[in-house]
Amino acid sequence: MAKRIQIEQNGGPEVLQWAEVALAEPKAGEVRVKNHAVGVNFIDIYFRDGLYKAPAMPTSLGTEGAGVVDAIGEGVTGFKVGDRVAYAQGPLGAYSQYHVLPANKLVSLPEQIDFDSAAAMMLKGLTCQYLLRQTAPLKAGDVVLFHAAAGGVGTFACQWAKALGVKLIGTVSTAEKAALAKANGAWEVINYSTENVVERVKELTGGAMCDVVYDSVGKDTWLTSLDCLKPRGLMVSFGNSSGPVEGVNLAILNQKGSLFVTRPSLNGYADTPERLQAMAKDLFDVVQSGQVQIHIGQRFPLEDAAKAHIALAGRQTTGSTVLVP
Ligand SMILES: NC(=O)c1ccc[n+]([C@@H]2O[C@H](COP(=O)([O-])OP(=O)(O)OC[C@H]3O[C@@H](n4cnc5c(N)ncnc54)[C@H](OP(=O)(O)O)[C@@H]3O)[C@@H](O)[C@H]2O)c1
Repeated sequence: MAKRIQIEQNGGPEVLQWAEVALAEPKAGEVRVKNHAVGVNFIDIYFRDGLYKAPAMPTSLGTEGAGVVDAIGEGVTGFKVGDRVAYAQGPLGAYSQYHVLPANKLVSLPEQIDFDSAAAMMLKGLTCQYLLRQTAPLKAGDVVLFHAAAGGVGTFACQWAKALGVKLIGTVSTAEKAALAKANGAWEVINYSTENVVERVKELTGGAMCDVVYDSVGKDTWLTSLDCLKPRGLMVSFGNSSGPVEGVNLAILNQKGSLFVTRPSLNGYADTPERLQAMAKDLFDVVQSGQVQIHIGQRFPLEDAAKAHIALAGRQTTGSTVLVP
């Protein structure tokens, strides 16, 4: 038997249950991982509240974790029992003591990276990898706006942008978060609770505005974000923390300067085992170089996942959040 967090229906944090289930056996091509640390991400909230639909109920949540291979299914090559591994994709169910997932969603964890750091970095760090290194071909001197710069993905973005020589303007909601984003390498920070973002971006860029805007806040920031772009700039809308962007009239992209827009996802970039491995190598390299450090802002016992969800949705977290099984 094993313990996991599961839901039987969509709803608020109160639908998260601490349940005991039979230990699942890996099928052909699958691996069972004994989780040592589990990552918390905003997408877990979308699956809990029903914005994204889980394939079946009851279901556990979570797609990010790190641990040790505990059992392997038929035909699995490249991994053996006892290997240290980490993952950021695959079926829902990382909020568990044991998680069964396809072997081709795993990466080997370098000895120097501990389990907590791995669980804190896989989904957010790989997201940052594709956002800064693939979605936009950023080069030194480019100016980007990155919303929620003290959050999980934002903390990676501030540091990685600095390493690339990119001038990242981060937005945050409090003075404490502003200080954190600045300490992590943001070129400038705007408090979007108290300042006019478009006016501040105009000032900071001498009127030139941004090459790229990375917007994971969604509904609340969409229009402001478009107004912060240069003509023909790129709008990367990659999340819904304040709710999804809906009902967009494409003509707005013309009116605001022949803009480009994309709505990417990690699964759309790490869509083959080869691409996943290459992206993970790039992430591990930048972390092991010391240019990007892992910030775990808060830890909770796995059974207290509801507290983690309340904190994340309530804008009370900074950096990554880790659940300890
Ligand atoms: N497309 C992808 O591949 C992908 C992958 C990973 C994550 N994401 C998205 O990236 C975003 C960040 O994920 P994360 O897990 O690292 O979370 P996070 O950034 O640590 O937390 C979300 C942050 O968004 C800001 N925010 C603004 N309005 C908010 C609202 N109404 N409710 C809650 N938060 C609000 C808050 O920062 P302030 O208090 O500073 O405003 C909050 O701390 C999420 O939208 C997530 O869905 C997308």
